[in-house]
Amino acid sequence: MKSAERLCMHISIDGPAGAGKSTVARLVAQRLGYTYLDTGAMYRAIALAVLQAHISSHDAPAIAELIKKCDLQIKTEIDGTNKIYLDGKDVSADIRQQAISAIVSDVANYKTVRDVLVDKQRQMASHGSAVLDGRDIGTVVLPDAELKIFLIASLAVRAKRRNADLQQSGEKVSPEQLAKAIEERDSKDAKNTYGPMRAADDAIIINTDNMTINQVVQKIVDLSKRP
Ligand code: C5P
Repeated sequence: MKSAERLCMHISIDGPAGAGKSTVARLVAQRLGYTYLDTGAMYRAIALAVLQAHISSHDAPAIAELIKKCDLQIKTEIDGTNKIYLDGKDVSADIRQQAISAIVSDVANYKTVRDVLVDKQRQMASHGSAVLDGRDIGTVVLPDAELKIFLIASLAVRAKRRNADLQQSGEKVSPEQLAKAIEERDSKDAKNTYGPMRAADDAIIINTDNMTINQVVQKIVDLSKRP
């Protein structure tokens, strides 16, 4: 079927931390007029709820109870960014703190958490064409996505990008600490029991090291239009 005849299309963009997934996914969605869903933000919001409730990220029964009670809402802004609300409060900035990044992979490794969030992600994607970014979109959440991308970049480039993000938000972390934290998170995410970070067999791998954001976006937009 030609792309122009497609009524609905889903694009999955998976890959390790700092590979540029969120920015690229948002811009691809904007160019194509699709909905954008940042699934990492959902796991981060649950990690924030865990921190706020003073629960240990290793306390499985408490986290299973918490996920049942959390009211998580995602809204798309005019500029295509996702705003995330936890129990009615906008937590979009709070979830980017390094304290959240440090525990989110542990929180994301509970079946109770993944069942709720994967269900929500599928439900949101069912409304029409969408670009979802995460770790397990092409493998678990939307295994039938028409276009699957796996973005990669060297650790040095990814640490530099994350550092720029954190500096913008006023947090100070040394580049060495940041690279170590990213490596640890990637390692945990790759070993996740229920939704490991992994390229789907039919995913197209793009190394973004020597590419600008616009080049990556253009490549994915072009791929989405192939017959
Ligand atoms: O994409 P981002 O770096 O914001 O994701 C934060 C964390 O959420 C990841 O490190 C991973 O532990 C978890 N995650 C996941 N599955 C997804 C998206 C994110 O397990 N689909």
